[in-house]
Amino acid sequence: MLLAALRDAQSELTGPRPPRVDHQASFQQLLERLESARGGAPYFPYLSSGIGNGPWVELADGSVKLDFIAGIGVYGLGHSHPRWLQAGVQAALQDTVMQGNLQQHVPSIELCECLLKLAQAQGAGLSHCLLTTSGAMANENALKIAFHHRFPADRVLALDHCFAGRSIAMAQLTDRPHYRTGIPTVLAVDYIPAEDPEHSPQSQARSLAALEKHLQRYPGKHAALWLELVAGEGGYYPGSEEYFKKLIARAKADNVLIIFDEVQTFSRLSQPFAFQHFNLDDYADIVTLGKITQLCATLYRDELKPKGPLLSQTFTASSASIEAALVVLDELERTGCFGAAGWNMQRHDYFSQRLRELADKYPGKIAGPHGCGMMLALTPGDGSSQAANDLVHALFAAGLMSFVAGSNPARVRFLPPPAVTTNAHIDTAIEIIDKVLAANA
Ligand SMILES: Cc1ncc(COP(=O)(O)O)c(C=O)c1O
Repeated sequence: MLLAALRDAQSELTGPRPPRVDHQASFQQLLERLESARGGAPYFPYLSSGIGNGPWVELADGSVKLDFIAGIGVYGLGHSHPRWLQAGVQAALQDTVMQGNLQQHVPSIELCECLLKLAQAQGAGLSHCLLTTSGAMANENALKIAFHHRFPADRVLALDHCFAGRSIAMAQLTDRPHYRTGIPTVLAVDYIPAEDPEHSPQSQARSLAALEKHLQRYPGKHAALWLELVAGEGGYYPGSEEYFKKLIARAKADNVLIIFDEVQTFSRLSQPFAFQHFNLDDYADIVTLGKITQLCATLYRDELKPKGPLLSQTFTASSASIEAALVVLDELERTGCFGAAGWNMQRHDYFSQRLRELADKYPGKIAGPHGCGMMLALTPGDGSSQAANDLVHALFAAGLMSFVAGSNPARVRFLPPPAVTTNAHIDTAIEIIDKVLAANA
Protein backbone atom coordinates (compact mmCIF):
# COMPACT_ATOMS: atom_id res chain seq x y z
CA MET A 1 0.00 0.00 0.00
CA LEU A 2 2.80 2.41 0.84
CA LEU A 3 4.55 1.69 -2.43
CA ALA A 4 1.32 2.19 -4.40
CA ALA A 5 0.70 5.50 -2.62
CA LEU A 6 4.27 6.56 -3.34
CA ARG A 7 3.99 5.71 -7.05
CA ASP A 8 0.76 7.61 -7.24
CA ALA A 9 2.22 10.70 -5.55
CA GLN A 10 5.31 10.78 -7.75
CA SER A 11 3.64 10.05 -11.09
CA GLU A 12 3.38 13.73 -12.05
CA LEU A 13 6.93 14.65 -11.10
CA THR A 14 8.53 14.13 -14.49
CA GLY A 15 9.62 17.62 -15.56
CA PRO A 16 10.35 21.11 -14.26
CA ARG A 17 7.40 23.00 -12.79
CA PRO A 18 7.29 26.62 -11.58
CA PRO A 19 6.21 27.46 -8.02
CA ARG A 20 2.47 27.68 -7.37
CA VAL A 21 1.37 31.27 -6.94
CA ASP A 22 -0.91 30.38 -4.01
CA HIS A 23 2.00 28.70 -2.16
CA GLN A 24 4.43 31.58 -2.42
CA ALA A 25 3.53 33.53 0.74
CA SER A 26 3.51 30.44 2.98
CA PHE A 27 6.77 29.19 1.39
CA GLN A 28 8.41 32.54 2.08
CA GLN A 29 7.30 32.32 5.71
CA LEU A 30 8.80 28.84 6.00
CA LEU A 31 12.11 30.14 4.63
CA GLU A 32 12.08 32.97 7.15
CA ARG A 33 11.40 30.54 10.00
CA LEU A 34 14.24 28.34 8.75
CA GLU A 35 16.60 31.32 8.62
CA SER A 36 15.64 32.42 12.11
CA ALA A 37 15.84 28.94 13.66
CA ARG A 38 19.18 27.98 12.20
CA GLY A 39 20.74 31.41 12.37
CA GLY A 40 21.28 31.99 8.66
CA ALA A 41 19.48 31.90 5.33
CA PRO A 42 19.74 28.69 3.28
CA TYR A 43 22.04 28.93 0.23
CA PHE A 44 19.07 28.69 -2.11
CA PRO A 45 15.34 28.60 -1.37
CA TYR A 46 15.11 24.84 -1.08
CA LEU A 47 12.60 23.22 1.22
CA SER A 48 11.39 19.89 -0.04
CA SER A 49 7.75 18.86 0.08
CA GLY A 50 9.13 15.40 0.94
CA ILE A 51 8.36 13.77 -2.38
CA GLY A 52 10.31 13.29 -5.58
CA ASN A 53 10.84 10.95 -8.48
CA GLY A 54 14.40 9.97 -9.42
CA PRO A 55 16.36 13.21 -9.85
CA TRP A 56 13.12 15.24 -9.80
CA VAL A 57 12.13 16.77 -6.49
CA GLU A 58 9.05 18.73 -5.50
CA LEU A 59 9.57 21.73 -3.23
CA ALA A 60 7.13 22.97 -0.63
CA ASP A 61 6.18 25.85 -2.96
CA GLY A 62 4.88 23.29 -5.48
CA SER A 63 7.81 23.75 -7.91
CA VAL A 64 9.64 20.75 -9.34
CA LYS A 65 13.41 20.87 -9.84
CA LEU A 66 15.91 18.60 -11.54
CA ASP A 67 18.26 17.81 -8.66
CA PHE A 68 21.77 17.49 -10.08
CA ILE A 69 23.46 18.29 -6.76
CA ALA A 70 21.55 15.81 -4.57
CA GLY A 71 22.45 17.13 -1.12
CA ILE A 72 26.06 17.52 -2.39
CA GLY A 73 26.28 13.94 -3.49
CA VAL A 74 24.06 12.28 -0.91
CA TYR A 75 20.86 11.25 -2.74
CA GLY A 76 22.46 8.63 -4.97
CA LEU A 77 19.13 6.95 -5.66
CA GLY A 78 17.44 10.29 -6.25
CA HIS A 79 14.24 11.17 -4.39
CA SER A 80 11.47 8.84 -3.15
CA HIS A 81 13.13 5.72 -4.53
CA PRO A 82 10.89 2.74 -3.65
CA ARG A 83 13.86 1.05 -2.01
CA TRP A 84 14.40 4.09 0.29
CA LEU A 85 10.87 3.45 1.47
CA GLN A 86 11.52 -0.24 2.01
CA ALA A 87 14.73 0.56 3.93
CA GLY A 88 12.82 3.06 6.08
CA VAL A 89 10.09 0.55 6.91
CA GLN A 90 12.67 -2.14 7.65
CA ALA A 91 14.41 0.28 10.02
CA ALA A 92 11.16 1.44 11.63
CA LEU A 93 10.42 -2.17 12.59
CA GLN A 94 13.67 -2.39 14.56
CA ASP A 95 13.71 -1.73 18.29
CA THR A 96 15.78 1.47 18.25
CA VAL A 97 16.20 4.49 15.99
CA MET A 98 19.94 4.91 16.54
CA GLN A 99 22.74 2.41 16.82
CA GLY A 100 26.02 3.02 18.56
CA ASN A 101 29.38 1.68 19.45
CA LEU A 102 28.05 -0.19 22.49
CA GLN A 103 24.93 -1.72 20.95
CA GLN A 104 24.54 -2.54 17.28
CA HIS A 105 22.15 -4.57 15.12
CA VAL A 106 23.01 -7.39 12.75
CA PRO A 107 22.78 -5.21 9.57
CA SER A 108 25.79 -3.20 10.83
CA ILE A 109 27.96 -6.28 10.42
CA GLU A 110 26.54 -6.93 6.97
CA LEU A 111 27.26 -3.34 5.95
CA CYS A 112 30.83 -3.26 7.29
CA GLU A 113 31.57 -6.57 5.56
CA CYS A 114 30.02 -5.31 2.35
CA LEU A 115 32.14 -2.11 2.35
CA LEU A 116 35.29 -4.09 3.11
CA LYS A 117 34.56 -6.60 0.34
CA LEU A 118 34.07 -3.76 -2.14
CA ALA A 119 37.28 -2.09 -0.96
CA GLN A 120 39.27 -5.32 -1.25
CA ALA A 121 37.96 -6.18 -4.73
CA GLN A 122 41.18 -5.20 -6.56
CA GLY A 123 43.53 -6.21 -3.75
CA ALA A 124 43.53 -3.37 -1.20
CA GLY A 125 44.56 -4.67 2.23
CA LEU A 126 41.81 -2.95 4.22
CA SER A 127 40.55 -5.18 7.03
CA HIS A 128 38.45 -3.08 9.39
CA CYS A 129 35.53 -0.70 9.07
CA LEU A 130 34.35 1.84 11.61
CA LEU A 131 30.95 3.45 11.00
CA THR A 132 30.18 7.02 11.94
CA THR A 133 27.73 9.82 11.22
CA SER A 134 29.75 12.45 9.35
CA GLY A 135 32.59 12.72 6.90
CA ALA A 136 34.43 15.00 9.30
CA MET A 137 34.27 12.36 12.04
CA ALA A 138 35.32 9.57 9.66
CA ASN A 139 38.30 11.76 8.78
CA GLU A 140 39.06 12.53 12.44
CA ASN A 141 39.13 8.79 13.08
CA ALA A 142 41.45 8.31 10.09
CA LEU A 143 43.87 10.94 11.37
CA LYS A 144 43.78 9.53 14.90
CA ILE A 145 44.65 6.07 13.59
CA ALA A 146 47.55 7.50 11.59
CA PHE A 147 48.99 9.63 14.43
CA HIS A 148 48.55 6.84 16.95
CA HIS A 149 50.49 4.45 14.75
CA ARG A 150 53.21 6.89 13.72
CA PHE A 151 53.74 8.64 17.09
CA PRO A 152 55.61 10.99 17.60
CA ALA A 153 55.08 12.15 13.99
CA ASP A 154 52.60 15.02 14.21
CA ARG A 155 52.41 16.58 10.74
CA VAL A 156 50.25 15.81 7.69
CA LEU A 157 50.93 16.25 3.98
CA ALA A 158 47.98 17.26 1.81
CA LEU A 159 47.19 18.57 -1.66
CA ASP A 160 46.30 22.14 -2.54
CA HIS A 161 42.50 22.66 -2.84
CA CYS A 162 41.69 19.78 -0.46
CA PHE A 163 38.58 19.81 1.73
CA ALA A 164 38.27 17.48 4.70
CA GLY A 165 35.32 18.70 6.75
CA ARG A 166 34.36 21.22 9.41
CA SER A 167 35.76 19.97 12.73
CA ILE A 168 38.61 22.03 14.16
CA ALA A 169 41.28 19.63 12.87
CA MET A 170 39.58 19.15 9.51
CA ALA A 171 39.17 22.91 9.04
CA GLN A 172 42.93 23.07 9.49
CA LEU A 173 43.55 20.38 6.89
CA THR A 174 41.15 22.01 4.44
CA ASP A 175 42.96 24.37 2.10
CA ARG A 176 40.57 27.31 2.58
CA PRO A 177 41.80 30.02 4.99
CA HIS A 178 38.37 31.60 5.51
CA TYR A 179 36.94 28.27 6.76
CA ARG A 180 39.20 28.57 9.81
CA THR A 181 38.96 32.25 10.64
CA GLY A 182 39.47 32.58 14.39
CA ILE A 183 40.00 28.83 14.84
CA PRO A 184 43.14 27.81 16.77
CA THR A 185 45.83 25.96 14.84
CA VAL A 186 45.73 22.39 16.07
CA LEU A 187 47.42 20.59 13.21
CA ALA A 188 50.56 21.15 11.18
CA VAL A 189 49.82 20.64 7.47
CA ASP A 190 52.29 20.89 4.60
CA TYR A 191 50.68 21.40 1.19
CA ILE A 192 51.77 20.03 -2.16
CA PRO A 193 50.62 21.63 -5.44
CA ALA A 194 47.88 19.64 -7.16
CA GLU A 195 48.54 18.33 -10.67
CA ASP A 196 47.96 20.71 -13.54
CA PRO A 197 46.69 18.40 -16.31
CA GLU A 198 47.68 20.89 -19.01
CA HIS A 199 51.34 20.86 -17.91
CA SER A 200 51.60 17.41 -16.38
CA PRO A 201 55.37 16.66 -16.49
CA GLN A 202 56.32 20.11 -15.13
CA SER A 203 53.56 20.11 -12.53
CA GLN A 204 54.44 16.61 -11.36
CA ALA A 205 58.07 17.65 -10.97
CA ARG A 206 56.99 20.74 -9.03
CA SER A 207 54.81 18.69 -6.69
CA LEU A 208 57.51 16.10 -6.10
CA ALA A 209 60.00 18.83 -5.33
CA ALA A 210 57.58 20.37 -2.80
CA LEU A 211 57.03 16.97 -1.17
CA GLU A 212 60.77 16.38 -0.99
CA LYS A 213 61.31 19.74 0.65
CA HIS A 214 58.65 19.10 3.31
CA LEU A 215 60.03 15.63 4.07
CA GLN A 216 63.55 16.97 4.42
CA ARG A 217 62.51 19.99 6.45
CA TYR A 218 60.71 17.81 9.02
CA PRO A 219 62.43 14.39 8.94
CA GLY A 220 60.23 11.63 10.40
CA LYS A 221 57.53 14.11 11.37
CA HIS A 222 54.86 13.31 8.75
CA ALA A 223 52.34 10.69 9.85
CA ALA A 224 50.23 10.70 6.67
CA LEU A 225 49.83 11.85 3.10
CA TRP A 226 46.20 12.93 2.79
CA LEU A 227 44.84 12.44 -0.73
CA GLU A 228 41.49 13.52 -2.11
CA LEU A 229 41.85 11.95 -5.55
CA VAL A 230 39.40 14.35 -7.17
CA ALA A 231 39.35 17.62 -5.25
CA GLY A 232 35.60 18.06 -4.71
CA GLU A 233 34.85 21.21 -2.72
CA GLY A 234 38.14 22.56 -4.09
CA GLY A 235 36.74 22.77 -7.65
CA TYR A 236 36.79 19.32 -9.32
CA TYR A 237 40.47 18.78 -9.97
CA PRO A 238 41.31 15.14 -10.61
CA GLY A 239 44.94 14.03 -10.48
CA SER A 240 46.37 11.24 -12.64
CA GLU A 241 47.48 7.71 -11.74
CA GLU A 242 51.07 8.62 -12.63
CA TYR A 243 51.04 11.72 -10.44
CA PHE A 244 49.58 9.91 -7.42
CA LYS A 245 51.97 6.97 -7.80
CA LYS A 246 54.99 9.27 -7.84
CA LEU A 247 53.88 11.13 -4.70
CA ILE A 248 52.94 7.94 -2.90
CA ALA A 249 56.21 6.17 -3.74
CA ARG A 250 58.20 9.08 -2.33
CA ALA A 251 56.04 9.37 0.80
CA LYS A 252 56.13 5.60 1.43
CA ALA A 253 59.92 5.65 1.27
CA ASP A 254 59.74 7.72 4.47
CA ASN A 255 57.15 5.45 6.05
CA VAL A 256 54.32 7.98 5.63
CA LEU A 257 50.83 6.42 5.72
CA ILE A 258 48.48 6.99 2.79
CA ILE A 259 44.95 8.19 3.53
CA PHE A 260 42.37 8.44 0.75
CA ASP A 261 39.46 10.75 1.56
CA GLU A 262 36.62 9.32 -0.53
CA VAL A 263 33.79 11.12 1.23
CA GLN A 264 32.79 12.79 -2.04
CA THR A 265 34.37 10.51 -4.67
CA PHE A 266 32.95 7.19 -3.45
CA SER A 267 30.77 5.64 -6.19
CA ARG A 268 31.29 8.45 -8.71
CA LEU A 269 34.05 7.08 -10.94
CA SER A 270 34.55 3.81 -12.83
CA GLN A 271 34.86 1.81 -9.59
CA PRO A 272 33.19 2.14 -6.20
CA PHE A 273 36.37 3.68 -4.77
CA ALA A 274 38.40 6.35 -6.60
CA PHE A 275 41.59 4.61 -5.42
CA GLN A 276 40.43 1.63 -7.50
CA HIS A 277 39.74 3.89 -10.49
CA PHE A 278 43.34 5.19 -10.27
CA ASN A 279 44.81 1.69 -9.55
CA LEU A 280 46.17 2.70 -6.16
CA ASP A 281 44.85 -0.33 -4.27
CA ASP A 282 48.26 -1.41 -2.98
CA TYR A 283 48.78 1.88 -1.20
CA ALA A 284 45.48 2.31 0.67
CA ASP A 285 46.36 2.36 4.38
CA ILE A 286 43.28 4.24 5.58
CA VAL A 287 40.21 5.20 3.52
CA THR A 288 37.19 7.29 4.46
CA LEU A 289 33.85 7.43 2.67
CA GLY A 290 30.48 9.04 3.16
CA LYS A 291 27.68 11.07 1.61
CA ILE A 292 26.04 8.67 -0.88
CA THR A 293 26.32 5.80 1.64
CA GLN A 294 23.94 7.67 4.03
CA LEU A 295 26.49 7.22 6.80
CA CYS A 296 30.24 7.50 6.90
CA ALA A 297 33.05 5.05 7.52
CA THR A 298 36.78 4.70 8.07
CA LEU A 299 38.42 1.58 6.63
CA TYR A 300 41.94 0.64 7.68
CA ARG A 301 44.61 -2.04 7.59
CA ASP A 302 44.86 -4.64 10.33
CA GLU A 303 48.32 -3.51 11.42
CA LEU A 304 46.92 -0.05 12.14
CA LYS A 305 44.40 -1.33 14.68
CA PRO A 306 44.79 1.10 17.62
CA LYS A 307 46.27 -0.26 20.83
CA GLY A 308 43.86 1.35 23.27
CA PRO A 309 40.40 2.90 23.44
CA LEU A 310 41.01 5.52 20.76
CA LEU A 311 37.90 5.13 18.62
CA SER A 312 34.36 5.18 19.91
CA GLN A 313 31.09 7.08 19.57
CA THR A 314 27.61 7.11 21.06
CA PHE A 315 26.10 7.03 17.56
CA THR A 316 27.51 5.00 14.70
CA ALA A 317 24.43 5.59 12.49
CA SER A 318 20.66 5.35 12.53
CA SER A 319 19.01 2.03 11.74
CA ALA A 320 17.49 3.72 8.66
CA SER A 321 20.93 4.88 7.42
CA ILE A 322 22.33 1.39 7.78
CA GLU A 323 19.41 -0.19 5.89
CA ALA A 324 19.62 2.56 3.27
CA ALA A 325 23.37 2.12 2.86
CA LEU A 326 22.87 -1.56 2.05
CA VAL A 327 20.23 -0.61 -0.52
CA VAL A 328 22.46 2.07 -2.09
CA LEU A 329 25.40 -0.31 -2.53
CA ASP A 330 23.11 -2.88 -4.10
CA GLU A 331 21.44 -0.39 -6.47
CA LEU A 332 24.76 1.09 -7.64
CA GLU A 333 25.87 -2.42 -8.58
CA ARG A 334 22.52 -3.49 -10.01
CA THR A 335 22.21 -0.45 -12.26
CA GLY A 336 25.66 -1.08 -13.75
CA CYS A 337 27.35 2.10 -12.50
CA PHE A 338 30.81 0.55 -12.38
CA GLY A 339 33.35 -0.75 -14.90
CA ALA A 340 35.58 1.04 -17.40
CA ALA A 341 32.61 1.16 -19.80
CA GLY A 342 30.03 1.21 -17.00
CA TRP A 343 27.10 3.56 -16.65
CA ASN A 344 29.03 6.23 -14.67
CA MET A 345 31.66 6.62 -17.37
CA GLN A 346 29.12 6.49 -20.22
CA ARG A 347 27.08 9.28 -18.68
CA HIS A 348 30.24 11.24 -17.93
CA ASP A 349 31.14 11.10 -21.63
CA TYR A 350 27.65 12.11 -22.67
CA PHE A 351 27.23 14.93 -20.13
CA SER A 352 30.71 16.33 -20.77
CA GLN A 353 30.23 16.21 -24.55
CA ARG A 354 26.95 18.12 -24.20
CA LEU A 355 28.54 20.65 -21.80
CA ARG A 356 31.42 21.11 -24.24
CA GLU A 357 28.91 21.94 -26.98
CA LEU A 358 27.45 24.60 -24.70
CA ALA A 359 30.92 25.95 -23.89
CA ASP A 360 31.55 26.26 -27.66
CA LYS A 361 28.18 27.95 -28.15
CA TYR A 362 28.73 30.46 -25.31
CA PRO A 363 32.45 31.33 -25.30
CA GLY A 364 33.24 33.72 -22.46
CA LYS A 365 30.08 32.74 -20.60
CA ILE A 366 31.18 29.25 -19.59
CA ALA A 367 34.34 27.16 -19.91
CA GLY A 368 34.97 23.48 -19.28
CA PRO A 369 33.73 20.94 -18.49
CA HIS A 370 35.98 19.80 -15.64
CA GLY A 371 35.96 16.80 -13.33
CA CYS A 372 35.54 13.12 -13.96
CA GLY A 373 32.89 10.38 -13.71
CA MET A 374 29.70 11.63 -12.12
CA MET A 375 31.45 14.77 -10.82
CA LEU A 376 31.26 17.51 -13.43
CA ALA A 377 31.74 21.26 -13.31
CA LEU A 378 31.77 24.41 -15.45
CA THR A 379 33.66 27.64 -14.98
CA PRO A 380 31.22 30.51 -15.48
CA GLY A 381 32.25 33.88 -16.95
CA ASP A 382 35.35 35.32 -15.28
CA GLY A 383 35.51 32.51 -12.70
CA SER A 384 34.60 34.90 -9.89
CA SER A 385 32.58 33.61 -7.02
CA GLN A 386 29.89 36.16 -7.94
CA ALA A 387 29.63 34.65 -11.45
CA ALA A 388 29.37 31.09 -10.04
CA ASN A 389 26.75 32.05 -7.45
CA ASP A 390 24.73 33.99 -10.03
CA LEU A 391 24.68 31.03 -12.42
CA VAL A 392 23.71 28.53 -9.67
CA HIS A 393 20.81 30.77 -8.62
CA ALA A 394 19.67 31.39 -12.21
CA LEU A 395 19.72 27.64 -12.89
CA PHE A 396 17.80 27.00 -9.67
CA ALA A 397 15.09 29.47 -10.68
CA ALA A 398 14.91 27.78 -14.09
CA GLY A 399 14.53 24.31 -12.54
CA LEU A 400 18.05 22.83 -12.32
CA MET A 401 19.90 22.38 -9.04
CA SER A 402 23.70 22.71 -8.95
CA PHE A 403 26.18 24.17 -6.48
CA VAL A 404 29.44 26.11 -6.38
CA ALA A 405 32.91 24.62 -5.88
CA GLY A 406 36.38 26.07 -5.55
CA SER A 407 37.70 29.60 -5.77
CA ASN A 408 39.98 31.35 -8.28
CA PRO A 409 38.28 30.10 -10.38
CA ALA A 410 34.96 29.36 -8.74
CA ARG A 411 32.97 26.70 -10.55
CA VAL A 412 29.43 25.41 -10.86
CA ARG A 413 29.31 21.70 -10.18
CA PHE A 414 26.93 18.83 -10.75
CA LEU A 415 26.66 15.58 -8.76
CA PRO A 416 23.81 13.77 -10.54
CA PRO A 417 22.46 10.77 -8.62
CA PRO A 418 24.35 7.83 -10.17
CA ALA A 419 21.70 5.11 -9.80
CA VAL A 420 18.84 6.98 -11.51
CA THR A 421 20.18 9.67 -13.87
CA THR A 422 19.55 8.96 -17.57
CA ASN A 423 20.79 10.68 -20.71
CA ALA A 424 17.27 12.12 -21.04
CA HIS A 425 17.73 13.85 -17.66
CA ILE A 426 21.08 15.15 -18.88
CA ASP A 427 19.37 16.50 -22.03
CA THR A 428 16.88 18.37 -19.85
CA ALA A 429 19.72 19.81 -17.75
CA ILE A 430 21.46 20.97 -20.94
CA GLU A 431 18.26 22.61 -22.21
CA ILE A 432 17.91 24.52 -18.94
CA ILE A 433 21.55 25.67 -18.91
CA ASP A 434 21.24 26.69 -22.59
CA LYS A 435 18.12 28.73 -21.90
CA VAL A 436 19.68 30.45 -18.86
CA LEU A 437 22.87 31.32 -20.74
CA ALA A 438 20.90 32.62 -23.73
CA ALA A 439 18.75 34.81 -21.46
CA ASN A 440 21.73 36.32 -19.62
CA ALA A 441 23.32 38.07 -22.59
C1 LIG B 1 36.23 15.13 0.47
C2 LIG B 1 35.38 15.45 1.67
N1 LIG B 1 35.81 15.07 2.88
C3 LIG B 1 35.08 15.32 3.98
C4 LIG B 1 33.88 15.97 3.90
C5 LIG B 1 33.11 16.26 5.17
O1 LIG B 1 31.95 15.50 5.23
P1 LIG B 1 30.78 15.92 6.24
O2 LIG B 1 30.21 17.19 5.70
O3 LIG B 1 29.82 14.75 6.18
O4 LIG B 1 31.39 16.08 7.58
C6 LIG B 1 33.39 16.37 2.67
C7 LIG B 1 32.11 17.09 2.56
O5 LIG B 1 31.81 17.73 1.57
C8 LIG B 1 34.15 16.10 1.51
O6 LIG B 1 33.77 16.48 0.29
